Amino acid sequence: MTQLKNDLLLRALRKETVERPPVWMMRQAGRYLPDYIKLRDKYDFFTRVQTPELATAITLQPVDQVGVDAAIIFSDILVIPQAMGLEVLMEEGKGPSLPKTIKTKADIDALITTGAEESLSYVMNALSLTKKELNGRVPLIGFAGAPWTILCYMIEGKGSKTWDKAKQFAYTQTELAHALLQKITTITIDYLKAQVKAGADTVQVFDSWAGSLSPADFKIFAQPYLLQIADALKDDAPVILFPKGSWYALKELSESSAAGVGIDWCVSPQMARELTQNKITLQGNFDPAKLLAPIPDIKKAVKEMIDAFGIQNYIANLGHGITPNVPVDHAKAFVDAVKEYGS
Ligand code: CP3
Repeated sequence: MTQLKNDLLLRALRKETVERPPVWMMRQAGRYLPDYIKLRDKYDFFTRVQTPELATAITLQPVDQVGVDAAIIFSDILVIPQAMGLEVLMEEGKGPSLPKTIKTKADIDALITTGAEESLSYVMNALSLTKKELNGRVPLIGFAGAPWTILCYMIEGKGSKTWDKAKQFAYTQTELAHALLQKITTITIDYLKAQVKAGADTVQVFDSWAGSLSPADFKIFAQPYLLQIADALKDDAPVILFPKGSWYALKELSESSAAGVGIDWCVSPQMARELTQNKITLQGNFDPAKLLAPIPDIKKAVKEMIDAFGIQNYIANLGHGITPNVPVDHAKAFVDAVKEYGS
């Protein structure tokens, strides 16, 4: 195996001492990069995802062009519904949609929970090709959607501001909701283990819509499945949980088998540290919209963010994905400011 030349991310996740925090950006491979747009204009979304050479080229763009300390494999969380037997469409500018949503017990019974390594072999091939092309420059991150977030798409069939149909399903057909969440959890564990086998050095679980739940309902419908995934992967690779919006769960998550937890910008670094007591590495939490501020303001805010978190047990990142309207030099200023910290 190639020795990593830059292993800051893995050291931060193992709580080892680092010279400076590692930095990467959620959704760092995407539409703010002109070279991504060029490939997007030539190949549709799932062709990009399913062709290892294209997925690898896109994964490497932010490493080469923005200088991040980690690569995250180009794919999508909605490949899991596909592997479970559902159709997922991606319409340019409109986001994802599932023509057939989950409504009944029979729909849930029909879902496939095995064979992710084979049905998603293109992800494994993209990971091993990317690993080879990286040649040890930076660690490679694998990922999956969290069970609650995947349930949201399976029930609603598209994005939502409130996720009220998904929540209605959870609150009125609770037993079925748990059966569905468990099926998603089972295949996701297999999928993440296969990603590690194929070359992922760490994996992140995106619970993008966790924050739609109250603290009490998060504990019922999201947290148990996140913990199940973290427990199952603990001997494979460090796991980063990102339940967006769920700052209230930080104390309990810091006592789990996860190595890291991502936070958004609605919680202060001080409060996040207080809740987690340095038991877990924190990742975040720069407001992605702040990347639209003038560059000197970005640099100042990054310095203040690291001052507040501290250098150790910390991964500099955004509090959610980078948006397409961020100028590349602003993204680069964010990354550079982390690299320049303390010098
Ligand atoms: O660089 C990376 O982070 C890796 C690639 C990545 C994508 N999706 C590529 C993508 C990752 C990690 C994801 C995860 C993902 N996908 C999440 C969780 C992260 C988050 O932002 O909360 C979610 C909720 C999805 C579902 C999804 N996929 C949505 C809602 C959309 C449309 C939104 C949009 O930005 O248009 C997608 C499409 C998608 N996935 C794009 C990219 C780069 C944009 C479409 C395109 O470029 O054609």
